Amino acid sequence: MIHQRLSSFPPNFLWGAASAAYQVEGAWNADGKGLSVWDVFTKIPGKTFKGSNGDVAVDHYHRFKEDIALMGDMGLKAYRFSVSWPRVYPRGRGEINEAGLRFYSALIDELLSHDIEPILTLYHWDVPQALMEEYGAWESRRIIEDFDNYCVTLYRRFGDRVRYWVSLNEQNYNLHHGFITSLHPPGVKDRKRFYEANHIAFLANARAIESFRQYVPTGSIGPSFAYSPAYPLTSHPDDVLACDNAEAFTNEWWLDVYCWGKYPQVPLRYLCERGLGPTIQEGDLELLQRGRPDFLGVNYYQTLTYEANPLDGVSEGTMNTTGQKGSGQETGIPGLYRTTRNPHVTTSNWDWAIDPVGLRVGLRRVTSRYRLPILITENGLGEFDVLDSDDTVNDEHRIAYLRSHVEQCRLAVTDGIDLIGYCVWSFTDVLSWLNGYQKRYGLVYVNRDETDQRDLRRARKRSFYWYRDLIRTNGQNM
Ligand code: NOJ
Repeated sequence: MIHQRLSSFPPNFLWGAASAAYQVEGAWNADGKGLSVWDVFTKIPGKTFKGSNGDVAVDHYHRFKEDIALMGDMGLKAYRFSVSWPRVYPRGRGEINEAGLRFYSALIDELLSHDIEPILTLYHWDVPQALMEEYGAWESRRIIEDFDNYCVTLYRRFGDRVRYWVSLNEQNYNLHHGFITSLHPPGVKDRKRFYEANHIAFLANARAIESFRQYVPTGSIGPSFAYSPAYPLTSHPDDVLACDNAEAFTNEWWLDVYCWGKYPQVPLRYLCERGLGPTIQEGDLELLQRGRPDFLGVNYYQTLTYEANPLDGVSEGTMNTTGQKGSGQETGIPGLYRTTRNPHVTTSNWDWAIDPVGLRVGLRRVTSRYRLPILITENGLGEFDVLDSDDTVNDEHRIAYLRSHVEQCRLAVTDGIDLIGYCVWSFTDVLSWLNGYQKRYGLVYVNRDETDQRDLRRARKRSFYWYRDLIRTNGQNM
């Protein structure tokens, strides 16, 4: 679709930037915080790049005022952050840690005093270690109650000041790595356990949304989904079918449940016939129906391209966590699909496809299917950055990435997509989970690396000024 004239972004568009507690806060054991699974997992030798962890991260816990002042200077309209569950409930439930709540309360007030809309993520992967030890966290239905209790605490305390809430962040990505590749905690490789835990996470998500209606009736809530739209490598019908399989198993499996409250039929039958399907108890489907969101949060980084995969074909690949281009390997499910390189797009040093048009494709697909407003909860480029002697970073590569994606957002708005906001991942550089600190996403550079915390100084990158100008003109000046 080629448009002669482009629509403008809506007047109250949420130009934002995002972060997550474990990736920025540090203060891993300060002021009564309990352990999360990541506090423990990252200490196991060999799990992360150069053994990096979030003990200090970028010390946002102690520097949030400085960071928010930078956001104010940028003219940011929204800041998406996550609350660390074990900072609020050190043991997952029971006694509240008031000091933890005070931190988030002060953070929210500071944002509001700079006219920045807080977007609060309830869960960004840091489940309390206590619940992992007690009952296996997402593997037990007991978590539904505990998660709801934690969420209700936040609704009660912050529901008067926070209008936008994100429920579970990238449930698909996090549990895939927790139970299929074993790269995330709990480090398991078991498809049956994956689908069971994932079902319980759906129920917890729905229950938290159901409670939200009661406690924050005027607010908006939705999950943030790691969305990689599927492409077929060729028009060979077998590749098209493989792509269809991938779309159903890697996207619709989550999106249909979030937005419609039901599993897609074809993958459900396939999994049940193989004894892999989730255990659906009485009342589950009704709960999923009641827990539908107000908007869909989309974390978009790349499309994935698929081709047919025979029954004796590829299953496990490896992930590039070092930035050595080409070190990642293709992966797949025999008989369903395998990933392959798309010859029409370039890739980052971490082998992620750079495909801005894919964002427009994805926004159109989910709008056609679900008809919900969309908040882009994450989009950004993870790359090496160099701090120059004058304390700036010439991240033209990031500006090019962001510009091309914002352009596609504008085209999507012109197509008729109800897009309510766009959050750059990330505001400052962060700990990139398995990839250490060298895979940088920030608009603001943080002076540290995996082994040396240096002075944690903040330095505005070129992209900071580019985004500032974009926000000032509501997306006109790209
Ligand atoms: C999505 C996750 O939500 C975020 O935590 C992560 O750092 C980015 N992807 C980049 O990989």
